[in-house]
Amino acid sequence: MSDQASGLRSLIDRRPSGVRLGNAQAVAVASGKGGVGKTFMAANLAVLAARAGRRVLLIDGDLGLANVDVALGLRCQHSIGEVLRGEVSLARAIEPGPCGVSVLAAGSGAEWLAHLDVGGLAVLQSELTNIGTAFDLIVIDCAAGIGRNVLFFAKVAGRVLLTLTPEPTALADAYALLKTLAADRSIDVQVVVNQALSTSDARNAYGRLRAVSGRFLAKEPCYVGHVPRDEDVRRSVRARQPVVTYSSDSRAACALDGIFRALLPPRASIALGGARGLAIPCVVGGAMASSSGAEAR
Ligand SMILES: Nc1ncnc2c1ncn2[C@@H]1O[C@H](COP(=O)(O)OP(=O)(O)OP(=O)(O)O)[C@@H](O)[C@H]1O
Ligand SMILES: [Mg+2]
Repeated sequence: MSDQASGLRSLIDRRPSGVRLGNAQAVAVASGKGGVGKTFMAANLAVLAARAGRRVLLIDGDLGLANVDVALGLRCQHSIGEVLRGEVSLARAIEPGPCGVSVLAAGSGAEWLAHLDVGGLAVLQSELTNIGTAFDLIVIDCAAGIGRNVLFFAKVAGRVLLTLTPEPTALADAYALLKTLAADRSIDVQVVVNQALSTSDARNAYGRLRAVSGRFLAKEPCYVGHVPRDEDVRRSVRARQPVVTYSSDSRAACALDGIFRALLPPRASIALGGARGLAIPCVVGGAMASSSGAEAR
């Protein structure tokens, strides 16, 4: 492990136990391969949560190649880059997005942001912990791959929605990320298959990932469901709107709604069954399984 990586680990491990981003629930949407649908997933889940009455902050964690603002048709005035340079406060950099979602944009085209050093990550962690008290849920749209920023967001959120498509390359890269995350047993990983051609296409993809991670990592991530490949998604992207508002009765929007309910149940049901370290019930193709990787019942 490099000095920088161990510096990052000790930085994050200094957080008070059980408190990551204020009192907010948090989920980092990540993937091994790029272009599988993380921004799509993060933006739509954030909007669904806001519509369900939660105070939601959507963070563009793809620092350096940010595009949450583009995806949502926003013209954000400020970004994480300015916060880290001390030019604006984090509270000022957060801007209103669709359906009451608050959005923290990130700079695009800035190499230093894409590879933040431990000092920059420390500032970011402290800012996010402070602002977390103002939100119920923080959704982070990560960059693709296993870079330091991705591992940072996974660690501070404590929970990763690992997004993949059924393609072999996406599966291989998803396993690479899973393997990297597996070093930290405090990170809960859940899987969503996007752009699936059918339910069995999605289940096969998850099954292959589960088998290989069970065999080599002795840990099986939970499956929260799949989103079908749907032309309405491409139309909504071109219209710069979340598909759940652009075409709320589309197959993709309906699937996202199911994933939202499985992934982010109301606080009450989390308190009953999903305290950290315990199994959080989630959906496997309509049946229930536990995040410890049990068979669908
Ligand atoms: N369920 C879907 N059905 C059809 N097309 C989809 C679906 N999900 C995503 N797409 C298409 O894939 C494109 C890439 O999605 P998105 O930008 O969310 O990927 P990403 O993982 O965030 O990419 P990057 O790694 O570059 O950040 C979208 O612009 C959209 O056209
Ligand atoms: Mg993206």
